[in-house]
Amino acid sequence: MEFIDLTNCACNVLRTANAEDKAKLTRSYIAQINDHPDKVIIGKAKPDIRPARPDKPELLDPNQMPRRRNAGSLKSKVTLLHAIAHIELNAIDLAWDMVARFAPLYEGHAEKDTPLTLPMDFFLDWLSVAGDEAKHFLLLNDYLKTFDVRYGDFPAHDGLWEAAEKTRHDLAARLAIVPMVLEARGLDVTPHMIANFTAQGDEDTVAILNVILEEEVNHVRIGRVWFEYFCTAHGHDIESYWQALVREYFHGKLKRPFNHDDRFKAGMIRDWYEPLAD
Ligand SMILES: [Fe+2]
Ligand SMILES: [Fe+2]
Repeated sequence: MEFIDLTNCACNVLRTANAEDKAKLTRSYIAQINDHPDKVIIGKAKPDIRPARPDKPELLDPNQMPRRRNAGSLKSKVTLLHAIAHIELNAIDLAWDMVARFAPLYEGHAEKDTPLTLPMDFFLDWLSVAGDEAKHFLLLNDYLKTFDVRYGDFPAHDGLWEAAEKTRHDLAARLAIVPMVLEARGLDVTPHMIANFTAQGDEDTVAILNVILEEEVNHVRIGRVWFEYFCTAHGHDIESYWQALVREYFHGKLKRPFNHDDRFKAGMIRDWYEPLAD
């Protein structure tokens, strides 16, 4: 068995345009790595600025997106699930990008006198996130097919990758924005969706959203843990440094209402995010 270079795996997934292939390639790398954990190495393959994506969906500016109407209709349900599938597809790329983008900081590669080097566990954590996101995408994609909907049938927006591009030179900024703001926002909004589908007696949708919510708590936690690791290495105060990065890289205020309980499970402290809210 040859070595499995995680940066190569990352670049191969990022360069896969077809959404289902991207998710399935991720799952197959996870399976290979679970079978041969001792063969994993961190190479030096460099990711492109943008990942490959399918021709559809058409990517619109966030404020050009059609409004969702008729809550409770099948059309509104599949439109919402399609929007979440699009977020999960972005999340696959974001997790793999974390692996490859910051590989130069790996302790086996980095200069000896840099204040921060990253252990193998950093890369394995984001690998596990990529695996979860691929699972979430495939759950939604398979479910949408039962309603004769394909990923790409509705337009989507490109807001998520913008955050990745803006933070590609700065690990702390990437962690502060992607898991600790954007994925944490998912914790706030998903319970309302679960409550709505529960009220409609839609158990299949509720089951999928429950899997996603539970695993997203762990993604926020992983982001927060590595952000703290960065702050400790550089001697930054966690709260004020996170707030400064959010003010610099995130447009606008954080939205209420917050899901304080799930945020707390992820180690997000109320005093950190309340001052940034509207
Ligand atoms: Fe996800
Ligand atoms: Fe996630």
